[in-house]
Amino acid sequence: MAKIIDGKLVSQSVRDDVALQVKELNEKGVSVELAVIIVGNNPASRTYVNNKKKACEATGIVSVEYALPEETTMTELLALIEKLNNDNKTNGILCQLPLPKQLDEKMVIAAISPEKDVDAFHAINTGHIMIGDYSFLPCTPAGIMEMLKYYNIEIEGKNCVVIGRSNIVGKPMAMLLLQKNGTVTICHSKTKNLAEITRKADILVAAVGKAYFVTADMVKDGAVVIDVGMNRNAEGKLCGDVDFDEVSKKASYITPVPGGVGPMTIATLLKNTVTAAKQQNGIES
Ligand code: GUN
Repeated sequence: MAKIIDGKLVSQSVRDDVALQVKELNEKGVSVELAVIIVGNNPASRTYVNNKKKACEATGIVSVEYALPEETTMTELLALIEKLNNDNKTNGILCQLPLPKQLDEKMVIAAISPEKDVDAFHAINTGHIMIGDYSFLPCTPAGIMEMLKYYNIEIEGKNCVVIGRSNIVGKPMAMLLLQKNGTVTICHSKTKNLAEITRKADILVAAVGKAYFVTADMVKDGAVVIDVGMNRNAEGKLCGDVDFDEVSKKASYITPVPGGVGPMTIATLLKNTVTAAKQQNGIES
C-alpha cells in the first residue's frame, strides 16, 4: 500500500515560512500585495480564487480582488493590467484562467509585467525556467518538486513520465524534473502506446484533466504517482486523474485529491508573491 504524500502538511511548512517572511517585511515597512483578477462566473475559478485569497490572508499577504463581468473586453482587461503594472503597491498580479472566449489568454499573459507575474506564465519567466535560472517558480510544478523533496524522493537518474503538455503544468514540470537530472518523457493525447511508456515510470505525473484516467495497469510496482487532476466524477465528487483506490495498491507514494497537489500550488503562489515584493523593494531573498 502506498504512502500518502500529504500536500496539506507540506504546504503548511511553506506557508509558515511565507508568514514569517511577510512579518519581517512588514516590520521593515514593506507590505506584500497580490492583485487577483477573475473574469466571469466560472465556478471552479471562483473556488480557486477564494482559496488563494484565504491563503493570502492567513499568511499576512494583502489580496485585492478584481472581479470583472463575463462580457469584459480585451481593452478593459488590458487597461486594468496596465494600471496594476504601474501601481507600486501591487507586487503580484494573477489573472485566473481560463478566461471567457472573447479574451485572448496569450495577450493577457504577455501584458502582465514579468516582475509581477507570480504565476510565472509570461514568456520571459518561462524562458528563465527553460534555462534553469529563475526567481518565479511555476506554481504547480514547483509545488510538486517541494513535495518530492519533503519525502526525500530521489529524482536523479529516475524515469520520470509526465502525462500532459500544457504550458501551466506539463511543460514546466518536465523542465524542473530535468534540472534535477531525471530522464523525462512527456506524453500527450497523440502519444502511441501510452501505457507501455507509463509502466516504465519511476515517477509518474498525471496532468490530463480526465477523471480516473491513470489505471493500475499503467503503473509500475513501487512507482511514485503524482496526481494533478481536479475533476468531478459521475456523482459530482472531486477526484483526480488517477484511479486512487487501485493505483495506491501498487505505488510506493501517491498524492490524494483533494489534499495533494492543490494546496502546494497555492503555497508556491504565496512564495512567489513574497519574492516579487522583495525584488521590487531591493531586498535580497
Ligand atoms: N487556472 C488553473 N490553474 C491556474 C493557475 O495556477 N493560475 C492561474 N492564473 N489560473 C489557473
